[in-house]
Amino acid sequence: MLFDLGLQFIMNNIIKPLEYTGSFLRVLDQTLLPEQEIYYEYSSYQEVILAIQKMIIRGAPAIGLAGAWACCLAGQKIKNKTELLKAFEEIAQARPTAVNLAKAVNRLKNTCLSLPDLELEANKMFEEDFQMCQQMASYGLTVLPNKSEYKFLTHCNTGSLATAGIGTALGIFKLLALQSKKRLMVYACETRPYLQGARLTAWELHKLNIPVTLLPDSAAAHLLKTEKIDAVFVGADRIVANGDTANKIGTYSLALAALVHKTPFYIVAPSTSIDLSLASGEEIEIEERPKEELIYFQGKQIAPSQINCFNPAFDITPHNLITAFITEKGICSPEKLKNLFQNYV
Ligand code: MRU
Repeated sequence: MLFDLGLQFIMNNIIKPLEYTGSFLRVLDQTLLPEQEIYYEYSSYQEVILAIQKMIIRGAPAIGLAGAWACCLAGQKIKNKTELLKAFEEIAQARPTAVNLAKAVNRLKNTCLSLPDLELEANKMFEEDFQMCQQMASYGLTVLPNKSEYKFLTHCNTGSLATAGIGTALGIFKLLALQSKKRLMVYACETRPYLQGARLTAWELHKLNIPVTLLPDSAAAHLLKTEKIDAVFVGADRIVANGDTANKIGTYSLALAALVHKTPFYIVAPSTSIDLSLASGEEIEIEERPKEELIYFQGKQIAPSQINCFNPAFDITPHNLITAFITEKGICSPEKLKNLFQNYV
């Protein structure tokens, strides 16, 4: 009974960053959280592209779903198939690193391109993502030692704001705390410069009464050294054939520190983030963000505007630093990834 109530509570509190109504896409502006909860109504695919680029919509699965619905919005207005496919290409290129976007658009390209078909497929993808979150969370619980109290470290935001459901890495914490009734502390890295950890992860967990401790990204290695952290769980934007994984900048440093401090390091991601067409991480395009994101902080200048900046949005964690992948199809080592997914992706 307690279990059902816990699950019910999680489900009742799922934040909806995206909702397609049939005429427009309703989008929660993630750049304004947690201060303001503002929703926009986009009726053109160009608005959705801009929202993805400005990080109003973010998180690999959510970007993929927004891309799918952007294709539907394009389908509402463009009746010529060549023109429609051109719009699809623009949508697929909104952000380069998360493979979910290109895969979502490709999936819609393979329909007969009629509006009802596009909408049917996009809705199906939303449903599938919702289910995959539950499956990943259930698998995630099985890698944990049986204890009464846990401490975890995470990075960026992998929750409802980034998916159609309870999230990927964050889904595991939600299930453990609210369904299994275990005590836990989630250490959330701030995630400079966009502060997805501070603004989004801390907000999402706090809303569910799951204990969260915020730390600057630069404190993560010290935390792993001084506290007994049970595991690091993070998400992914693109996992390639050898298991190398692109995720939010700072993930690689966490994996290095986790190895030194003998802390298991898990990637939690659905098959929509897996790209077996690339052999290794060197082939992944890493998005470079504008230097203004480092020069200014909430409108205030914090560095000389003439200097050079290095602002990659993602980094690549080499497969040999990853303990295992937790996916909707099960748990696997980097070496087994190709076998597990060759028939699915
Ligand atoms: O730049 P963002 O906020 O889109 O980056 C998000 C991440 O790196 C997430 O960890 C990843 O997309 C997985 S979200 C389930």
